[in-house]
Amino acid sequence: MELEDAIVKRRSVKKFDPEFHLNDPQVERLISLALLSPTAFNIQNWRFLWLSDPNLRLEFRKIAWDQAQVTDASAFILIAADLKAWDRDPERYWRNQPDFAKTVVPAMGQYYRGKERIQRDEAMRSAGIAAQTLMLAAKGMGLDSCPMTGFNYDAAGSLIKLPKDYCLTMAVAVGRALEPANARGGQLPLSEVFFKNRFP
Ligand SMILES: Cc1cc2nc3c(=O)[nH]c(=O)nc-3n(C[C@H](O)[C@H](O)[C@H](O)COP(=O)(O)O)c2cc1C
Repeated sequence: MELEDAIVKRRSVKKFDPEFHLNDPQVERLISLALLSPTAFNIQNWRFLWLSDPNLRLEFRKIAWDQAQVTDASAFILIAADLKAWDRDPERYWRNQPDFAKTVVPAMGQYYRGKERIQRDEAMRSAGIAAQTLMLAAKGMGLDSCPMTGFNYDAAGSLIKLPKDYCLTMAVAVGRALEPANARGGQLPLSEVFFKNRFP
């Protein structure tokens, strides 16, 4: 599928076919493609948690407004982020470029150390970009998806044993649509959201 086609055809599907299954290599392929998403300083701060246990998915659905996508999609993937990724052996993010690592690694420390808000902003940026890569990769593989934040984050954190220093950003359900997505809600015109040089 052409990229533009995938962008246009990706929609947030509400009804997934519960009989349609993805195998481990298919899910690993999706995540491997998401791992090619850009991150600041190549920090790769996202962490993907695949809820493959049906019982855990049932539990999760209870804290997600009973949304059917949680249990009916073939794969339900939570995207968390390590807020301290910048401080965890950061040389490995540049292991193929050891000379560049000598300057970029100290710069990373300066950029993030003691700046909780920037650490959290980075988590959300990285995860959002990765989620879109995941959804477009799914579309490219002939699959459908739904991005989701409609769940109780505190309860979800307990359920999945979210590690200290991690934050939970969002979920992506992936599978095969039983019904097409609802009609688009109504896109804003370019004139309302796109500007040149300065805001009016
Ligand atoms: C961050 C985020 C959270 C969302 N959470 C939910 C959700 O919990 N449940 C749901 O059905 N759709 C959810 N959506 C889907 C949006 O409703 C949908 O993207 C929007 O209506 C535009 O439709 P489209 O994705 O089909 O173009 C979410 C989308 C985003 C980006």
